[in-house]
Amino acid sequence: MTVRIAPSILAADFAKLGDEIAMCEAGGADWIHIDVMDGRFVPNLTYGAKVIETVRRCTSLPLDVHLMVVEPEKFFEDFAAAGASGMTIHAEAAPHLHRQLNRIRELGCRAGVALNPATPLNAVCEIIPELDLLLVMSVNPGFGGQEFIPYAVDKVRRARLMLDEADSQAAIEVDGGIARETIREMWSAGADTFVAGNAIFSAANPKAEIGELRDRCGVLV
Ligand code: DX5
Ligand code: ZN
Repeated sequence: MTVRIAPSILAADFAKLGDEIAMCEAGGADWIHIDVMDGRFVPNLTYGAKVIETVRRCTSLPLDVHLMVVEPEKFFEDFAAAGASGMTIHAEAAPHLHRQLNRIRELGCRAGVALNPATPLNAVCEIIPELDLLLVMSVNPGFGGQEFIPYAVDKVRRARLMLDEADSQAAIEVDGGIARETIREMWSAGADTFVAGNAIFSAANPKAEIGELRDRCGVLV
């Protein structure tokens, strides 16, 4: 498995978004994570297609769009047209995961499902073949800079077993409170894709922090 680092622009300085994206790319980021919030599924409001399209013009890195919204299917076409490479929808907000994931794939994007800390893994066990990515939230979605929930580690461990057993190649992404102190245990548990907002953008040297996080994973023994 290779480590993927996906800086979340939620923690970036939007007055210089282009520079922030260029910094991520120069620092070796693998994906750019874009958090779309609607003020309904989560108690916070962020951005939509306009920002995806802006980031698309700034980088050739894959854009990993995390939809924290109700009725996510309303946005699939617009976000794909804006340049999303992958779209991850929440199981708690999407009762027709089979149809919705297939629609995301039809639009040429990687299809992901996110699970809140309180949502059990079996919310996705029937649709593993449609999954390109499983996002295990390690905070309650809605805000950056929250404290890592330690029992997400065991959930990742069980997610890895579940996907391996089903012969799935889906990525396991973790999001929330990922930092130097928490990334290695998530990697050891079986995650391969790491979203980080504050850990990168509030670091003394944000560009170098991307490599620092990657180095914390190292070789598993
Ligand atoms: C939280 C978002 C995250 C957020 C992570 O709802 O999904 O992507 O930006 O921020 P940090 O890494 O600061 O916890
Ligand atoms: Zn996110």
